[in-house]
Parts: sequence; C-alpha cells; structure tokens
Amino acid sequence: MDVLVIGANGQIGRLLVEILGNGERHIAHAMVRDPAQMPEIRKRGGRPSLGDLEENFEDVVRGMDALVFTAGSGAHTGPEKTIDVDQNGAIRAVDTCVALEVPRFVMVSSMGADDPESGPENIRHYLRAKHVADEHLRASGLQYTILRPGRLTDEPGTGRIRAGAGLGYGEIPRADVAEAIALCLDMPETQGRIIELLSGDTPIRKALAQEA
Ligand SMILES: NC(=O)c1ccc[n+]([C@@H]2O[C@H](COP(=O)([O-])OP(=O)(O)OC[C@H]3O[C@@H](n4cnc5c(N)ncnc54)[C@H](OP(=O)(O)O)[C@@H]3O)[C@@H](O)[C@H]2O)c1
Repeated sequence: MDVLVIGANGQIGRLLVEILGNGERHIAHAMVRDPAQMPEIRKRGGRPSLGDLEENFEDVVRGMDALVFTAGSGAHTGPEKTIDVDQNGAIRAVDTCVALEVPRFVMVSSMGADDPESGPENIRHYLRAKHVADEHLRASGLQYTILRPGRLTDEPGTGRIRAGAGLGYGEIPRADVAEAIALCLDMPETQGRIIELLSGDTPIRKALAQEA
C-alpha cells in the first residue's frame, strides 16, 4: 500500500517510516514541514513530501491507500496550537481522506482521550482535542483504527504490549507504538476499533488480534 505518515519527522513518525520503508509490503510516504528533514527520511527508506497541517496538503494525500496521523503540536506550544494541530489538523486529514477516497486511517490518539474531563487538569485541553478528532474519525465512514498509547518513552522496543480498553495509566516505548501502527495496517481485524496500548507481555500482533 501507499501509506502516508503525517508527523513523519516526529519520534514515532521516524521509527514508523523506517519500519514501513524497509518492509516489503508498503511504500512509506512521509509528510514533513521542512526540506532539511528530507535526507533523514530518505535514509530511513521513506519518500518525503512537503506539507503542513495548517495549510492545504491535499496534493500530498492524493493517491494514497492509507494515512497514519502521528503529528502533534508538542508540549512546548500553547493550547491554541493543540487545537490547530492535534484537533483541527487531524480533522482536516480525515476530511481530506474522505474527499480523495483514501480508505484507511490509523490515528495515534492518547490514553485518556475517551474521557478528557477525568484526566489531569494540565493536559485536559490536549485530551479534549484528541477526543474531538477521534470522534470525527469514527463518524467519517473511513476504515479507521484509533490507537491510544499511554505515556511515551524512548526505551528500546520490547515487541510486547498490552492492548485493550480500560487498561489504566502506564507507559509504552515509542518503538512498540510504531510497530503496532505498522501491524494495524496489515490487520483488517483492527478496523473500526479503539485500542489502548501499554507495555506488556504479549507479542504485539497477538495483543492486537486478541483485542479485535
Ligand atoms: N508524549 C506522550 O506521552 C504521548 C502519549 C500518548 C500519545 N501521544 C501522541 O503521540 C503522537 C506522536 O508522538 P511523538 O512523541 O512522536 O511526537 P513528536 O516527536 O512531537 O512529533 C510530532 C510531529 O508532528 C509534526 N507537526 C507538528 N505540527 C505540524 C503541522 N502543522 N503540520 C505537519 N506536521 C506537524 C512535527 O513536525 P516538526 O518535526 O516539523 O516539528 C513533529 O514531527 C502525537 O500525536 C502525540 O500527541 C503522545
């Protein structure tokens, strides 16, 4: 499949581009905001294109079979950017896929996005933005998978996770999330589902299949 990664220069994004770019099954297209980011993407086996979620990025999405949204405004910007990128950027990505008939969409959401008002006050605006974007995707008619990882770490991936609903708070290495995204693209049984992800003992494919 031609897979577009939005947020490809991010920490999960780079790992995902490398997994897809070095596999046999997919072509890893990578949307980045800065031409200086392109050599690193190519080194990882991806095909970079310039695009910004706050501008028109239709041309980057056209012709894709699947889109992975793993962008985020990050902790160093204010709440307005969270609305612009995590919420409205994600919504525009969904709408663009609908308009251009890109059928498959994998969203990197967040643990706690199901019930933002119960989350810690300092990240409630972020959880609300994720929640609104997730609900928009669910109503879109696209073949979606919404992944909700716990707190992300830079520990090496273990290849083992817990996947499910109501797991409670915890952590997971970005490398294991990237692997889970790549597997979801090849697992139709993950479509139409919201799956929380934490570190665990079950091989990733098996954990995702059990959840489905
Ligand atoms: N941190 C956590 O504990 C946690 C927990 C659960 C879920 N998540 C979610 O996991 C996802 C990925 O996390 P991560 O650590 O890989 O994030 P990251 O390293 O901060 O990467 C985010 C990427 O989004 C890109 N981006 C920001 N604004 C954009 C825009 N307007 N247009 C296009 N791209 C834009 C950034 O581009 P530049 O490189 O150009 O800045 C960056 O590459 C995010 O959606 C995050 O909300 C995080």
